[in-house]
This record gives sequence, C-alpha cells and structure tokens, in this order.
Amino acid sequence: MDSKVLILPAAGSGSRMSLEVPKPYLEIAGRTILEHTLRRFLQLEGLVRVVVAASPERMKQARAILDHALPGSLAATVVEGGDERQHSIRNALVEAGDAELVLVHDAVRPFVTPAQIDACCRTAADCGGAVLGVPARDTIKRTGKGRRIVETPSRRELWQAQTPQVFRRELLVRAYEQAREEHFTGTDDASLVERAGGEVRMVEGSRENFKITYPLDLKLARLLLEEH
Ligand code: CTP
Ligand code: MG
Repeated sequence: MDSKVLILPAAGSGSRMSLEVPKPYLEIAGRTILEHTLRRFLQLEGLVRVVVAASPERMKQARAILDHALPGSLAATVVEGGDERQHSIRNALVEAGDAELVLVHDAVRPFVTPAQIDACCRTAADCGGAVLGVPARDTIKRTGKGRRIVETPSRRELWQAQTPQVFRRELLVRAYEQAREEHFTGTDDASLVERAGGEVRMVEGSRENFKITYPLDLKLARLLLEEH
C-alpha cells in the first residue's frame, strides 16, 4: 500500500463567488466546505498526512478545522498559500515528506467519492499520474484574432479536468521545479507534469464532483449537502 499525502489548496480569494468569506470557509449544514471536503478522504488507505494551504489571515481557522475533523493519528500541516494556486501547491509540497503518492484536491470540491479517489490513486501508482475528469459536455472552440473560430477539436477527445489529481511525489516535485525554472504557470497540476514529460491518465469521474466556483454552484451544493 503506497503512503499518501493529501494537499488541499484553500488559499484563494473566491473572486468569482463575490462573497466576503472565501469559499472553503463558507458554512453549509453546520460545517465549512473545507471540512466537508476533508471528510471525503478520511477512509483513504495509506494516508499519512494532510497539508492545507491557507491565506495568512485564515491559517488559524484552517488549523482549527484540521484539529477538529482529523483523528490525532494523522499528521496535519497548514502552510501559507501564494498568489497563484500553483504557488499554494508549491508551498504545500515542501511539507509532503516522503510519501509515495501526492493527492491534490480543491478544497471546494466536497462531492468527490471514495471510489473515485481510489481509482485515481491506483492509476497514478501504475503510470505516474492520474486526473479525475468528465467528457466535455459542450463543443469547444478555439478562437483567434477578432474571436474568429480557428478550430473545433473533436469532442470525443476532450475532457474537463477536475481533482483529485494524483502523482508519484518525485514526479510532481520535479515538474514543479521545472515550471518554476521556466516561469511556466499552468491552470492545473497535471499540465506541469505533462510538460515535464510525465505520463498522466484521465480517470472518468462524474459531474457531481463540480467545483464550487459561482453563486449558482453554491446554491446547488447547499441543496445537495443539506438534503443528506
Ligand atoms: N487556491 C489556492 N491558492 C490560490 C488560488 C486558489 O489555494 N492562490 C485554491 C482555492 O482556495 C480553491 C482551489 O484552489 O480551493 C480552486 O481554485 P478556485 O476555485 O479558482 O478558487 P479561487 O481562486 O478562490 O476563486 P476565483 O478563481 O474565483 O478567485
Ligand atoms: Mg482561482
């Protein structure tokens, strides 16, 4: 059984949500979204440590949530996040210890299932990296100058990437180092590993594992979590 560390980036400002409180610290059904998400991972075999990246003014609260939700046997660390999600993950990776696999999961995706987490871990152990995702729902266009459409990639090959994104730790650390050296900023962790030549496979998840991004997502999350 591979040893695993879970990184939960929770240091964003939630600009698309436009609320005072950042998304991971919003409460639904008596718990913060960060805690709902965290609880989805508690049964994971081989999990040895959880690292949360939080903004400076939320570090204390993140610590309190970990202390409250995690069993004492599980190591837990809060690190300061950065301006970009990639910087938050980079800071968290420093605390990853010697675990074999690193799982990165958005603190604002509370609907991931244990089966999906397991499937990603198995694939990553097998080939190096795994990303949970769903087949693209809409036709995607690439536009150029004046928004002229220059390409319509076949939908059969297009996926929407979610998290968890799971990697062998050494591969992910190397990819982050390379991205830093080359001043590359990606929109997810896999893009850094792909760039470094690592193999990353898509694992089919479900649309329920949406990221709470816009006010409408928050409404849906409340509906789903409050009905349980
Ligand atoms: N995140 C982070 N550090 C950042 C930016 C984002 O740790 N500098 C975290 C968020 O807290 C969130 C996850 O990454 O849990 C996914 O990011 P996203 O949904 O984009 O959240 P925000 O960046 O907070 O929202 P927005 O992009 O609307 O500002
Ligand atoms: Mg963001």
